[in-house]
Amino acid sequence: MAASLAPLAAQELRPIRIGIIGLGNRSRNHLDGLKLHRADAPITALCDLDSSRAARVNAALPESAATYTDYRELLADRNVDAVVIVSPNFLHREMALAALKAGKDVLVEKPLALTYDAAREVAAEASRLGRVLAVGMQRRYFPADARIRQLVEEGRIGAIHFISYNEFRGDWNPNSWKFSDPVTGAETNWRYLRKTAGSSELELSIHSFGFVQSLLNSSLVKLSASGGTVHFKGRETRDLSTAIADFSNGARLEYSFCGFAPGAWHNCNILGEKGALELHDNRLVIRSTGAKPETEEFRAAESAESQMYREFFRSVRDRTPSPLNAQFAIEASKLAYAIDIAIIENRAVTAADFTPRA
Ligand SMILES: NC(=O)c1ccc[n+]([C@@H]2O[C@H](COP(=O)([O-])OP(=O)(O)OC[C@H]3O[C@@H](n4cnc5c(N)ncnc54)[C@H](O)[C@@H]3O)[C@@H](O)[C@H]2O)c1
Repeated sequence: MAASLAPLAAQELRPIRIGIIGLGNRSRNHLDGLKLHRADAPITALCDLDSSRAARVNAALPESAATYTDYRELLADRNVDAVVIVSPNFLHREMALAALKAGKDVLVEKPLALTYDAAREVAAEASRLGRVLAVGMQRRYFPADARIRQLVEEGRIGAIHFISYNEFRGDWNPNSWKFSDPVTGAETNWRYLRKTAGSSELELSIHSFGFVQSLLNSSLVKLSASGGTVHFKGRETRDLSTAIADFSNGARLEYSFCGFAPGAWHNCNILGEKGALELHDNRLVIRSTGAKPETEEFRAAESAESQMYREFFRSVRDRTPSPLNAQFAIEASKLAYAIDIAIIENRAVTAADFTPRA
């Protein structure tokens, strides 16, 4: 991120006008998150390949927005200051680069890009152009995660030696947008294909990896993994994977993902020198040697997306890097990229795999 970002075009307190690209399932959370900020950040432009989606969203807005089916037209709209990108993963790099070049600040859904090099390219471009670039890693605002970070920072469990993380979910949304193969014309849910989704870990697990990184603040040294499509055979993106990762501070992560579970839940155990933290969805158990376990339950007072937008708009106004900055997102994505390389190439991945090329 650049040391100083480009100043806002006009006076600081002018509304930040928002253009949204991609109006599928996830856009509902963005629209909800933006509601609280409407006075300061009105939606002035909407884009989706399917024009009926923009029309439907527009009908529910207090003031009508311009609608487009070509995202480049939205980027050329002078009534848009910041762009929110909620399209399928394979379009994030292209759309974010174009938005930055068009002089917009950008909030792009995770993942920033399908590969490590492409993600770094987008980050470098935002830095060069002095634009705010935020990545939709809204888990930063989950109250249980924030509490765990606080406990770890206070030294409650001492240095972390081991994190065991198991994540379960059912199948992907069957109503996801369908990628049409340019040669065969075959239509496939974009989440099933490597070229459109990247991997299941890049699509789902990076939220958990961001959380792990926020606790360890340490770089990946080595990762081994195995996995495949054991239930949804014929798909390219995995429904099962297990990884073991070593970090430069000596901590180890054991992670597993299952994508054919009857429901969605996650268990995370964080073992430190002096105690342990167990997270089961929103229930936290704090264990210290010789003491009775303490249990805490969490419920969010405000949606993570609403908080994400508050911080994004602060960054846009103050011209300061977003807490959901590209570097944070790239560090989290690194584990997903590493799992993919380890499984596809059947080898251990090391830090050398992420050494920037000259
Ligand atoms: N942060 C989170 O927790 C979270 C959760 C779910 C999804 N996501 C992310 O949000 C993004 C979208 O996911 P979704 O579930 O909404 O997918 P979706 O398939 O429901 O919607 C994608 C939308 O993009 C539109 N689209 C496709 N190509 C386009 C183009 N060239 N120009 C304009 N619009 C185009 C489609 O018509 C569709 O409306 C993905 O990157 C996904 O990873 C993030």
